[in-house]
Amino acid sequence: MTSTRRQVLSQGAAIAGVASAGFLASNASAQTSKLRVGLMLPYTGTFAQLGVAIENGFRMALNEQGDKLGGREVEFFKVDDESEPAKGIENANKLVQRDKVDVIIGTVHSGVQMGIQKVARDSGVLSIIPNAGLHAATRSLCAPNVFRTSFTNGQPTQALGPVLLAKGQKKVVWISWKYAAGDESLEGFKAGFVSGGGTIVKELGLPFPNVEFQALLTEIASLKPDAVVCFFSGGGAVKFLKDYAAAGLKGKIPLYGSGFLTEGVLDATGTAAEGVMTTLHYADSLNTPRNKAFRLAYVKTYKLQPDVFAVQGYDAGLLLIKGANAVKGDFTKKVDLYKAMEGAVIDSPRGKWTMSKAHNPIQDIYLRVVEGKENKVLSIAAKALADSGAGCKMG
Ligand code: BEZ
Repeated sequence: MTSTRRQVLSQGAAIAGVASAGFLASNASAQTSKLRVGLMLPYTGTFAQLGVAIENGFRMALNEQGDKLGGREVEFFKVDDESEPAKGIENANKLVQRDKVDVIIGTVHSGVQMGIQKVARDSGVLSIIPNAGLHAATRSLCAPNVFRTSFTNGQPTQALGPVLLAKGQKKVVWISWKYAAGDESLEGFKAGFVSGGGTIVKELGLPFPNVEFQALLTEIASLKPDAVVCFFSGGGAVKFLKDYAAAGLKGKIPLYGSGFLTEGVLDATGTAAEGVMTTLHYADSLNTPRNKAFRLAYVKTYKLQPDVFAVQGYDAGLLLIKGANAVKGDFTKKVDLYKAMEGAVIDSPRGKWTMSKAHNPIQDIYLRVVEGKENKVLSIAAKALADSGAGCKMG
């Protein structure tokens, strides 16, 4: 071997040694430094309470682990996304580029989720969706680094159609906000209702987050359907339920909905929500030790009753804990991290659920009725319901 070649080799080995020492050092510091968790949620506007409940649930899950993920301390970074789709990309980038988060927990609104989805796909950052049901997130735009702990918009309403048909309510009016969540809830409802012989006599809509319901309620009264079916949530749901009762429709035309209608609102609605039936993947009254323990702990910690949003946030925490534990907090081990999350069985207050190939929960959907301040479970409307995952090229 010539001296020049020997020199090159020994220099190369030295460089490699330095580089690998550097890598080991940075890798070790990556595991000892705090894990950076971004919360992108609505803290103002009609969905503000939903954002707070999700954060509460998420923090509660981590708190049960000594506030650590895979042995690492956690640092939080928060952005109020205001349920404003136009700012979705900008807000997600604040967390990814400015705050350098390891994971984004967000969000509630399907339109804003489009922004997170784009940033997650472009940057590769791990993203856990604790609410937004946007179909594309786990269908055509599915991605290995995007997981959902909530639902697709069509899941709850798909289970509602057969409930109405069984009651002989075959002609209904649909009403919702006109954006992805409303449109896709309707799509799910049609799949379970129209296919079984039901007719939607009119589809009514108004832009999000508008709550001027009066003219639409007058139209419903003149149409005299067998029932009204809707998608609303948060502050808008409170207003809709109160206006429906004030318009004299309650007790005359039965009201049904995707279960978000009666989540987190029962203190504010008074008797306006009494008797309203909905379908959802959670019910306050689920009589399991898991749900009872969760509810007790949540009330003790936050002095508030939990709702489905708190459960979805809690489950986002449980899912992240499973992944983080599998890689001992080293989020650079993406293959093992995602594998653990894909295979997780989440022991949720809603009941155990698993992840579909497209990364969306396979879960039971309950029929519930409002009794006092509670969404009381009546039956399982759909067992282990999976979203189609149509167009997802990942699985
Ligand atoms: C959504 O925009 O996906 C959504 C918002 C509130 C409740 C349920 C779904």
